[in-house]
Amino acid sequence: MRPTARKNRKIIVNIATSADGYIARPNHDIAWLTSRPAPKGFYGMGTFMRSIDTTLLGRKTYDVSLRLGATFNRHYVFSRQQPPASVPTGVEFINGAITAFANRLKHERGKNIWMMGGGDIIASFLDEGAIDEFIISIVPIFIGEGIPLIAPRHRHVPLQLHSVKHYPDGVVQVHYGVGNAGR
Ligand SMILES: NC(=O)c1ccc[n+]([C@@H]2O[C@H](COP(=O)([O-])OP(=O)(O)OC[C@H]3O[C@@H](n4cnc5c(N)ncnc54)[C@H](OP(=O)(O)O)[C@@H]3O)[C@@H](O)[C@H]2O)c1
Repeated sequence: MRPTARKNRKIIVNIATSADGYIARPNHDIAWLTSRPAPKGFYGMGTFMRSIDTTLLGRKTYDVSLRLGATFNRHYVFSRQQPPASVPTGVEFINGAITAFANRLKHERGKNIWMMGGGDIIASFLDEGAIDEFIISIVPIFIGEGIPLIAPRHRHVPLQLHSVKHYPDGVVQVHYGVGNAGR
């Protein structure tokens, strides 16, 4: 099917965190997330995946995805290093100005764009004002230490609450629009 013609596609973070705000343990372990049985509908991920046609990710998340045997299709991997000599079909390495890249992508034809993470590349995009929305699935567990949802620095980024969904396993999913102030 042809991608929908849409001006200003949105860049949307859709990610799971522990209740204390981490996306992975310090050693990148995510078993606390992946070993949970998910309820039917998988927290709306199927619907979300049909709304996007492009994925953005940091190089470390790409490395984890490769190890987990992910498949790729229009995936842009951000890295400040030389790209590997060979990458899977569907993967393009990017080391460029984020604002220019995001503006170009948003004005191309297509569906919305998934910012998959992790916390470092989310921070880079957020601080350039390039993220439109966050969908955060908060898993009812504390893991105590780890990689934060957004790499820390002083910020003041107001959010607009779009919705809150509760799932039978205790996951709460909050959907925010990103405000304009404080960038
Ligand atoms: N819980 C979840 O739903 C979820 C979702 C996604 C990821 N994760 C987890 O998050 C962890 C990785 O997160 P992370 O924060 O450590 O790393 P990350 O954001 O995935 O990747 C960081 C890397 O991205 C590149 N990068 C960052 N900012 C850049 C910029 N402005 N321009 C160009 N390249 C840039 C750099 O690559 P180089 O070092 O190559 O220069 C940097 O080292 C993994 O364990 C993954 O499994 C969890």
